[in-house]
Amino acid sequence: MNKYVIRGGRPLKGQIEISGAKNAAVGMIPAAILVDGVCRIENIPQISDAVIQLSILKSLGADVRAVTEHTMDIDCTGIKSAVADLDMMRKLRASYYLIGALLGKFGEATVAMPGGCNFGGVRPIDQHVKGFTAMGADVEVRNGLVVAKAAGGKLHGANIYLDVVSVGATINLMLAAVLARGRTVIENAAREPHIVDVANFLNSMGADIRGAGTNVIKIRGVERLSGGFYSIIPDQIEAGTYMAAVAGAGGEVLIKNVIPKHLSCITSKLEEMGVEIIEGEDCVLVRRRGALRRANIKTQPYPGFPTDMQPQMTTVLALAKGTSHVTEGVWDNRYKYVDELSKMGANIRVDGRAAVVEGVDHLTGAHIKACDLRAGAAMVIAGLCADGVTEIEGIEYIERGYENIIEKLTSVGADIRPVEEPEPEETVKRAV
Ligand code: EPU
Repeated sequence: MNKYVIRGGRPLKGQIEISGAKNAAVGMIPAAILVDGVCRIENIPQISDAVIQLSILKSLGADVRAVTEHTMDIDCTGIKSAVADLDMMRKLRASYYLIGALLGKFGEATVAMPGGCNFGGVRPIDQHVKGFTAMGADVEVRNGLVVAKAAGGKLHGANIYLDVVSVGATINLMLAAVLARGRTVIENAAREPHIVDVANFLNSMGADIRGAGTNVIKIRGVERLSGGFYSIIPDQIEAGTYMAAVAGAGGEVLIKNVIPKHLSCITSKLEEMGVEIIEGEDCVLVRRRGALRRANIKTQPYPGFPTDMQPQMTTVLALAKGTSHVTEGVWDNRYKYVDELSKMGANIRVDGRAAVVEGVDHLTGAHIKACDLRAGAAMVIAGLCADGVTEIEGIEYIERGYENIIEKLTSVGADIRPVEEPEPEETVKRAV
């Protein structure tokens, strides 16, 4: 059982380098299944979600070699089975991309229902299933498994209208469509930067995808994809998280290796709150000296304010002067972390998808839990801002999506360290 211990109240100063985008990497690694030959992918973040995806590919028979810490050569030519390792798959949400990739390549797939962060109650995949079915697959979801089979052994193109804007369904249907017979059109598609990145990756290997980044994506199926080289974009949410950390804790940090355009809604919200931000070509300087001002936030699919920044920004607003209103526009239940913030003295009332945040003067260190990835990041920010010592449990969630978070924060002056605690005796006895 590991935890982070943070001694808060120190302003941050220095530079932080942003890693490759998690939500692009977890789409691109399974996308390699569709490619004949070696894909060299650069800028893969060293996070547990990416490591698990790579292990799943290996268990299927792929040859995965590390060229450097962040560059992998992936050759999926040796994959013969369309049945993925079920236990590994249950560990992450993005395992659903195995369905689109295996179905597109082999005309069949057996995968476990996705796991991952559990903040939205049941996280449905009905829009993925609807799309695969329109492309000629028979899809059965039973006993925690998804079993899909294309009629005649190959998918065909289809017109698919997504009833909800879904990142996962958009990427999954792109994966299924690139080798399908004929043309697929995905309407009401999600537009996040990681969707464009996965489409660019597939196009650079020979796919014909147009319109990624708009709400209509058109894919003409091709005979085969062949190996190539691709570098993943920087992580918009990792960058936003460190921007929020500087806003909360104060100080001045240059955040490097970012695409400032992907951050613009986070930048403008922080500016509204009194944070100074100077954009460079591939960096942003974030400076906060004075008091934080209140603001309202409503999360929405891209280019709206990202839901994956909601817990971090709500935490910063807990310290802003005045009353802020936060509305969660994507997930049903993404405020579980508010109970933890309350232990530190935050004053936040939640009613369904809305939160009313009454700013307080200070937070006080406490023993708290990370209940999912972004909530975990928010707890780290709260610890950095608080007076005294904060202990955070459940850090495995944080490590799913933030590479070297301890090293990055320590390098800008934060006092944060990981502590390993022995398992409680009772648990050890039961395990034996
Ligand atoms: N939805 C459906 N049916 C579906 C799919 C989604 O009703 O078939 C609903 C969901 O319940 C939700 C909304 O549509 O209310 C959006 O879900 P989406 O499919 O876009 O989410 P996702 O693909 O499962 C990805 C990210 C999440 C991020 C969301 C929204 C990955 C691996 N995960 O999830 O990221 O919150 O998009 O932007 O890409 C994170 O990184 O911390 C994280 C949770």
